[in-house]
Amino acid sequence: MKILLIEDEKILRISLNKTLQKAGYAVCPCSDGAKAISILDQENFDIVLTDIRLPGKDGIQILKYIQHHIPKIKVIMMTAFGSVESAVDALKLGATDYLTKPFSQEELLHKLASIRDFQSIEKENVELKNKLSLSTKIIGNSPSFLNLIEKIKLTAPTNHAILIEGESGTGKELIIDLIHQLSDRSDQALVKVNCAALSESLFESELFGHEKGAFTGALKQNIGRFERADGGTLFMDDIDDLPLPLQVKLLRVIQENEIERVGGEKTIPIDIRIIAATKVNLQKKMEKGEFRDDLFYRLNVVHMAVPALRNRPDDIPLLVAHFIEKHGAGHHITPAVMNVLQDFRWPGNVRELENAIIQMIALAQGDTLVASLLPRTLQQRKDFLNPSSGESLNQALSYSEKAMIESALEKCRWRQVDTAKMLNIPRTTLRSKMKKYGLVDKQV
Ligand SMILES: Nc1ncnc2c1ncn2[C@@H]1O[C@H](COP(=O)(O)OP(=O)(O)OP(=O)(O)O)[C@@H](O)[C@H]1O
Ligand SMILES: [Mg+2]
Repeated sequence: MKILLIEDEKILRISLNKTLQKAGYAVCPCSDGAKAISILDQENFDIVLTDIRLPGKDGIQILKYIQHHIPKIKVIMMTAFGSVESAVDALKLGATDYLTKPFSQEELLHKLASIRDFQSIEKENVELKNKLSLSTKIIGNSPSFLNLIEKIKLTAPTNHAILIEGESGTGKELIIDLIHQLSDRSDQALVKVNCAALSESLFESELFGHEKGAFTGALKQNIGRFERADGGTLFMDDIDDLPLPLQVKLLRVIQENEIERVGGEKTIPIDIRIIAATKVNLQKKMEKGEFRDDLFYRLNVVHMAVPALRNRPDDIPLLVAHFIEKHGAGHHITPAVMNVLQDFRWPGNVRELENAIIQMIALAQGDTLVASLLPRTLQQRKDFLNPSSGESLNQALSYSEKAMIESALEKCRWRQVDTAKMLNIPRTTLRSKMKKYGLVDKQV
């Protein structure tokens, strides 16, 4: 804690300086108001301890200056005996506290200690708030992402079931949190279930709950997740992993809005909104008979597709800036590294990008995130971009050509007619280039 001490009476200034230093504070003593303001412009302080009557500028003027320019500094005014009025004025103007002369050492140190405690709580709160808001912030500005956000805003306040489809790491969980926050159920629970992690036997007691003695090992009653989500939202992650017999049970709950605990006789009404997420195309699973169509239509009232990161490279600079702020504010990235990040295909999507940034920050010697810090999977790309890497210009061009064709094929779901149109080349040319680059037709 650093204190600027402004007192024109020499003896008092020296004795206060001593007291404060002994108590462990860093002190900058000063005898003149105008000088104090120029010091405030150059150095950082946590607390200003100032007399009211001073040469140069008086204590009230200093207080006003601080309130206007550096409001985070706490100000304690020292007033002469009998001038309580000016102390009250100072408090009205925003001073944190005041001391009437003569005051004891203890009184001063006690006031400083309570300011110190308050400031550290304040700081913790700000840090916590920043962390919270950073971890729930959804970043993206590309058209496909903005469309999705628009859909979220429109449908979150309804009670419709939502099916979210997106590859791993695209931000599905973040989206579910946002939907719940924007819904009328935001003051109720958001309960999450990972269908991939539950065995068939666990599923029933976890979701429906059980009565004491319902089965061997059921030593006490257990309230299931359906009941815990009552009034709120139930998020079922990896819904495609739900075995067929359990799909039937889930369907019944959705249709009848009631459950029975395992081993229980009572029927318990529940009011839940279901949001399900899947990494695979659930419609295809349904067509193959691996997912019940009646359940699919119940879950898929609103469909949201979260775009893969490689299909929205324009969002990468925004995400990079966001992750740097979240994990290592003050770092920055070179343009060459940004190019590499934007060109990469990111099979693990935003999660993989975030991890890459975390890793680079951890390894960085200074503030700059340079190419050599890139994860190994991206290094190859960097070598390739380096003119002294031995790559010929032709090799570089075919690399880019392949990447662009592949990305166009993805965007057009591997439909060659659309892809050729998008790239503005004849279909025969597209076909021969696909053959040259080993791009196998993935259209089903
Ligand atoms: N648009 C985004 N803005 C900011 N952070 C994001 C965004 N998308 C994803 N993230 C971050 O990436 C990480 C992975 O996101 P999340 O867990 O939501 O992905 P997921 O789609 O649920 O993945 P999985 O299918 O593997 O469970 C999280 O740390 C999340 O905060
Ligand atoms: Mg997830």
